[in-house]
Amino acid sequence: MRFLISAGPTREKIDPIRFISNHSSGKMGYALATAAKAAGGEVVLVSGPTQLTPPENITFVQVESAAEMAKAVRKYAPESDIIIMAAAVADYRPVKTFAGKMKKTPGNLMLELERTEDILMNLGLDKRPNQKLVGFAAETSNVIENAIEKLKKKNLDWIIANDVSRHDRGFGSDHNAVTMISANGDICEVALSDKKTVARRIIRKILHD
Ligand code: CTP
Repeated sequence: MRFLISAGPTREKIDPIRFISNHSSGKMGYALATAAKAAGGEVVLVSGPTQLTPPENITFVQVESAAEMAKAVRKYAPESDIIIMAAAVADYRPVKTFAGKMKKTPGNLMLELERTEDILMNLGLDKRPNQKLVGFAAETSNVIENAIEKLKKKNLDWIIANDVSRHDRGFGSDHNAVTMISANGDICEVALSDKKTVARRIIRKILHD
């Protein structure tokens, strides 16, 4: 099985020293890559900037922005059997990146942002037969309803719903608890555990569905 897994945040440059990003640590995506490798898979991990050491014996692709992540994912997607987008991809980027450091001026500053590509949505449009597409839904309210909406809208096989409003799990934490929902209507609860355990359970479920 050939896995393509994305992890971590993206950074969208404002100027040479400033960027827009989020609190994703990359731990869930790296744990998924480790679990996929341990399950006998061939793994490509496309990662935004994190503090983590990549797992051994996999193909590791370092990226920074959503556009770079989109390009790397597009490169490996056609040859992948299972694609898991665990990255917290920025939805917006500055319209203009300043070449030099922006200097402050009196008054407020308006920063104009434009949409980035929805990588997973585009993968869903191009999905080849037998390719499994898995997304994460990071939600702070109506977790399950919003996750099911993303599952349908992005043409996924599984969505992994993550309540990111809780401090004991998800973003930045070493622990997670998720609800996996499949396009066939299967629902699988993965109880609060360390991310390595959660990752093993997710990979096992995806491989055996
Ligand atoms: N995703 C992506 N490209 C983006 C944004 C998100 O591929 N530009 C992927 C994420 O990796 C995740 C899934 O889409 O697997 C859902 O991401 P999430 O941020 O929860 O949802 P969005 O689709 O961005 O919707 P919203 O932010 O409005 O909740």
